[in-house]
Amino acid sequence: MTILIKNIAAIYNVRTENNLLRGKELATLPMIENAYMLIEDDCISDFGSMDNIHSITTPENTIDATGQFILPTWCDSHTHIVFAGSRENEFVDKINGLTYAEIAAKGGGILNSAGKLNDATEDQLFNEAWKRLTELSSLGTGAIEIKSGYGLTVASELKMLRVIKKLKEKSSLQIKATFLGAHTYPLAYKENHEGYLNEIINEMLPVIAGEKLADYIDVFCETGFFSPEEMTRICNAGKALGLKPKLHINQLNSIGGIQSSIELNAISVDHLETMTDQDIVDLAASNTIGTLLPTAAYFLRMPFQPARKLIDAGCAIALASDFNPGSSPSGNMNIVVSMSCIQMKMLPEEAINAATINGAFAMEVEHETGSIMKGKKANLIFTKPIPSITYMPYAFGSNLIDKVMINGMII
Ligand code: NIG
Ligand code: FE
Repeated sequence: MTILIKNIAAIYNVRTENNLLRGKELATLPMIENAYMLIEDDCISDFGSMDNIHSITTPENTIDATGQFILPTWCDSHTHIVFAGSRENEFVDKINGLTYAEIAAKGGGILNSAGKLNDATEDQLFNEAWKRLTELSSLGTGAIEIKSGYGLTVASELKMLRVIKKLKEKSSLQIKATFLGAHTYPLAYKENHEGYLNEIINEMLPVIAGEKLADYIDVFCETGFFSPEEMTRICNAGKALGLKPKLHINQLNSIGGIQSSIELNAISVDHLETMTDQDIVDLAASNTIGTLLPTAAYFLRMPFQPARKLIDAGCAIALASDFNPGSSPSGNMNIVVSMSCIQMKMLPEEAINAATINGAFAMEVEHETGSIMKGKKANLIFTKPIPSITYMPYAFGSNLIDKVMINGMII
């Protein structure tokens, strides 16, 4: 099947090379105005100026994109979309002034979701996650990373990862799976950290590796959760089985997680609400991507990530939604991009690059998606007619997407 898209007002993030963008490079978003694009089967085969369209032989299908912009679909490299139920009661508790510790003492937080997930069947979890995935793809997300971490027992962590595996098999989106057994200590191991570490390392990881249930390993490295030393032990066990680290770091405190993650050669360090100057210098000098999750900071009423300082120091930055029931009950990447511009002073070009090509690098799908390049999947957002690409983050909250194409098919 060949599809010709013609009269495109402009195509954005058009590239001839696949590079992770850092520092100043993030501010350049290459584009072609008054353009065409040719799609063969599921891939982008050609594109260029409408002036050169005569070289195209007759396509089987033609789409007229007059007045519309095209950009690559969002690459959301950090989510927890497999969860059971919701936690809006805690949302109200927070409005009423209860602290995180008070909510946890009432049975809230990660353990609340773990209880609900334990009671849910694999089919229920799949159906709930499928609905979320369907909504996200209509909002322009074409590739997504999904974590376990609401199981916290051998059986439930495996249940979550099997749901993610089924999502991978059934969905046309690119999906990566991350094992987050070290999300918190389950009640049974509250006073026995060594016991839970052993369970992760000796009981969960071998089955996960044996059944190829995960691509990455994650740890919530935070005061009161897992220390950098505990994270290093867990990640080294995961690495020995082929799982690369992608980590929850510096959400609430800076406790050496950045430096330990860099030593582990982590693909990414995610959250980064709380960064010291040294953390920023160290991250900028490393190959590790800093993934910012502004909607989590927003929802928890925390200071936003220091995006400007990170970019100006030369860090490679990605943006992701952190979609989860506790700290970011939305996976809308359009809002993430908007919020990054409004609250973190990222330029629209920087935010779009961070949410597409750098997000693709943060889940190692940069050869398939994340930019408009010949041979990459035809994963495209078609905007409604809008005055400029900058209008997308500017007019926050409006749905400016006309249609989404995944693997050459309009969804
Ligand atoms: O990424 N910070 C750790 N984990 C999640 C929130 C977990 C929850 O509250 O359910 C996050 O924000
Ligand atoms: Fe998270």
